[in-house]
Amino acid sequence: TQSKLLTGQHWLITAGPTREAIDPVRYISNHSSGKMGYAIAQAAVNAGATVTLVSGPVTLSTPSGVNRINVSSAENMHQQVMTQVENTDVFIACAAVADYKIAEVSAQKIKKSAETMQINLVKNPDIVADVAALANKPFTVGFAAETQDIEHYAKDKLKRKNLDLIAANDVAKNGQGFNSDNNALTVFSYNKKFELPLASKSDVAQQLVALIAQQRDEKQ
Ligand code: PMT
Repeated sequence: TQSKLLTGQHWLITAGPTREAIDPVRYISNHSSGKMGYAIAQAAVNAGATVTLVSGPVTLSTPSGVNRINVSSAENMHQQVMTQVENTDVFIACAAVADYKIAEVSAQKIKKSAETMQINLVKNPDIVADVAALANKPFTVGFAAETQDIEHYAKDKLKRKNLDLIAANDVAKNGQGFNSDNNALTVFSYNKKFELPLASKSDVAQQLVALIAQQRDEKQ
């Protein structure tokens, strides 16, 4: 068997949206399709890594050779990631995780009555920040989905969450970001900036995987 770039490495990747239940029939979610995270999983497996993909609800088929774990809420995703993270060399948080969950999920379907209604939300655990806070922290890569001041917000997340790299995408632009087949990323480390120009998510994922491998080597 031929040795590849990532042979012997274990990569853990999150992808897709989360669903935060309101009642038995309703939830809060977002437009993530999972395409970006699944393309990264495929690229990492092709480069020889052992890949575990913790996935929110999406309609994509599992890339061949990838170990997929399905989750629904941010709490589920957090729990699975913290269970799987031991012995992980690289963690990539590509999922669009809900920042907030419903404070009190109704056991029964909420009935229509008043003209207005309020739902109280409380913060979800921050998965990528919790991974980056581990004593035996893997090389940790976050994403930043921004609609304005991309560099400022991405670098803020890089530092605040103690990440090694952050891949920022402009989700206000048409033809890239959420649900598109294409994407463009600007990747930041503490002192460097790398542009991955608009291309198919498959191409962008291959470039991102190579960049992560190279930046991890430099750190070690
Ligand atoms: O799935 P696609 O349709 O292909 O779209 C791809 C994408 C746009 C979803 C993807 O490229 C992307 O940007 N993913 C991150 C989306 C996001 O939630 O970004 P954020 O800026 O809100 O979060 C910052 C980082 O913290 C992310 O790595 C996120 O996974 C992580 N996070 C956020 C909240 C939380 N509770 N836990 C987390 O781990």
